[in-house]
Amino acid sequence: MNVQWYPGHMTKAKRQMQEDVKLIDLIIELVDARVPLSSRNPDIDEIGKNKARLILLNKADLADETQNEAWKTYFQEKDFYVVKVDSRNGAGMKLVQNVIQEACKEKTERDRKRGIKNRPIRAMVAGIPNVGKSTFINTFAGKACAKTGNKPGVTKGKQWIRLNKNVELLDTPGILWPKFEDQEVGKRLAFIGSVKDDILNMEELALELISYLCEKYPGAIEERYHIPEEGQPVEILGEIAKVRGCLKKGEELDYTKATGILFEEFRSGKIGRITLEWA
Ligand code: G4P
Repeated sequence: MNVQWYPGHMTKAKRQMQEDVKLIDLIIELVDARVPLSSRNPDIDEIGKNKARLILLNKADLADETQNEAWKTYFQEKDFYVVKVDSRNGAGMKLVQNVIQEACKEKTERDRKRGIKNRPIRAMVAGIPNVGKSTFINTFAGKACAKTGNKPGVTKGKQWIRLNKNVELLDTPGILWPKFEDQEVGKRLAFIGSVKDDILNMEELALELISYLCEKYPGAIEERYHIPEEGQPVEILGEIAKVRGCLKKGEELDYTKATGILFEEFRSGKIGRITLEWA
């Protein structure tokens, strides 16, 4: 789902996040593995200070594995726990369970010293729109988990999903807003389909994507479309239009249609596993 952000949305989302964060021990922050910086929210570190932090490189299946590893190291060096996941097919979920325990071991230890036993770890999922929060919650929690409903001391209306006897997850994710005032960020989010296509010049973006692919992933376009990666990006887009039969009346090439095909195939991973921001 594409969401348009206005200052009012941002304020509301921030306030909600600030409220929810009071209830939890751990923030499970989803980022898109193809754009791990652009898909992060600028204020999350402030909102989440004093909380245990876990970053999930979600959609790792669509990103370059070498870069996934590089980003994992990058965030680990900044003291985050990090797991690569594919929330759609469930890869990495078991590891997430273990890492949650690991990330909260200080809290568990503190509780133990104070004589508090069996207080579950409480976690919430957060991330910008379209990063995969709902998919992750569904896959991670599975069908077997019971919702615990309201509990004393918990804000009314909050639902917790009991993952096991030690961990409870807030069932509604925190929605964070992207750094859309930065044009480059906006562009990268457009590449992956996380901002509305109709507010951008998609054909211009297609040329930038082609140029990026030719530079960083040489051979990817050639292999997908069986065309040489030669000439200007606009010529390559023209070749894609030709091989895919994108023609207007009078045999004129339909660049708009070719752009649509290019983006659909890029976003679904058909052109390969591609990372747009390198660690
Ligand atoms: P949100 O709650 O953060 O807004 O995101 P949501 O779960 O709705 O996921 C957004 C899109 O990303 C969905 O695709 C979802 O299937 C896809 N997705 C989520 N996690 C992963 C992942 O790890 N790998 C891949 N490849 N895709 C993922 P959609 O096209 O909107 O829906 P659908 O076609 O899957 O039904």
